[in-house]
Amino acid sequence: MSTAPISRVSARLAAISPSATLAVDAKAKSLRAAGRPVIGFGAGEPDFATPDYIVAAAVAAAQDPVNHKYSPAKGLPELREAISAKTLRDSGYLVSPEDILVTNGGKQAVFQAFAALVDPGDEVLMPTPIWTTYPEVVALAGGTTVEVFAGADQDYKVTLEQLEAARTERTKVLLLCSPSNPTGAVYTAAELTHIGQWALEHGIWVVTDEIYEHLLYDDAQPAHIVALVPELANQTVVLNGVAKTYAMTGWRVGWMMGPPTSSGGHQLPVTPDQQRRQRLPARGHSRGGRRPVRGRPHADRLRPSASADRIHALRDRWRSGPHPQGGLLRLSER
Ligand SMILES: Cc1ncc(COP(=O)(O)O)c(C=O)c1O
Repeated sequence: MSTAPISRVSARLAAISPSATLAVDAKAKSLRAAGRPVIGFGAGEPDFATPDYIVAAAVAAAQDPVNHKYSPAKGLPELREAISAKTLRDSGYLVSPEDILVTNGGKQAVFQAFAALVDPGDEVLMPTPIWTTYPEVVALAGGTTVEVFAGADQDYKVTLEQLEAARTERTKVLLLCSPSNPTGAVYTAAELTHIGQWALEHGIWVVTDEIYEHLLYDDAQPAHIVALVPELANQTVVLNGVAKTYAMTGWRVGWMMGPPTSSGGHQLPVTPDQQRRQRLPARGHSRGGRRPVRGRPHADRLRPSASADRIHALRDRWRSGPHPQGGLLRLSER
């Protein structure tokens, strides 16, 4: 029997490349498994185990038949409540649990954010150097990445003038990743405020990836664009996850928070419009009695001890450049 040739994969899929980060990481892991003394510089991964109390809670949850059933598409209500409380604690603003969507890791949140916002022809402003995943995801959504380059001479941070020069009538989204993968750059509150006001003025969506929020070095301070420019909440999607802070890269738990879409995709978070935002504090206060959200002590293990020291030690071996102010990576310009 003759067989027909298999038809090609979709143009969307053919437009993207496999993850370069995961390819490097897989290679390092296989060399290590073969007994070679390899240090992986691919994936951003803490080098210690997930804290015991998290593992114990997961074991207990796995043993409870309640958790053997389908859960709501947005994620467990208790988890979304905890993420809401965590956001208030760490970022200083209230998001309704209804506006939070739990994902299979931060990467799925990245994918969904661009799938939700970008149509063919839309342009996404992307400060570079940047994590290799973002342009692929924009391409998958049919959008066009517009790179805005910020080199070591400007601490790897784009200026408002650069963003304005790159803006066209097709500009739909500005991507921010601070602390940054791969540069370690951290935008200050003043810088984020200006960028947020500019996005507001021009009706540009902001997708802000805050997965490295707790990994800050030296004098770098946490800064969250929605807290700084609250009106931006209606056009911002915040991406986050537990992978980096809690050494949980293999657990695949992330989330996204943001306004509703008109696409009918009810999987996307629903709007914290001004009215609802004003009602939220009352709701927040009524949370007494709930289990508190555990802290973020595990990022501390990364900070002065492990990665930062090692990162700084590498400075002498690789051409000097701006110190990473945050994140897990150091960009070598050699
Ligand atoms: C900037 C950034 N966002 C998101 C992710 C994805 O995190 P997760 O492991 O939760 O998918 C990574 C992973 O390296 C990252 O560097």
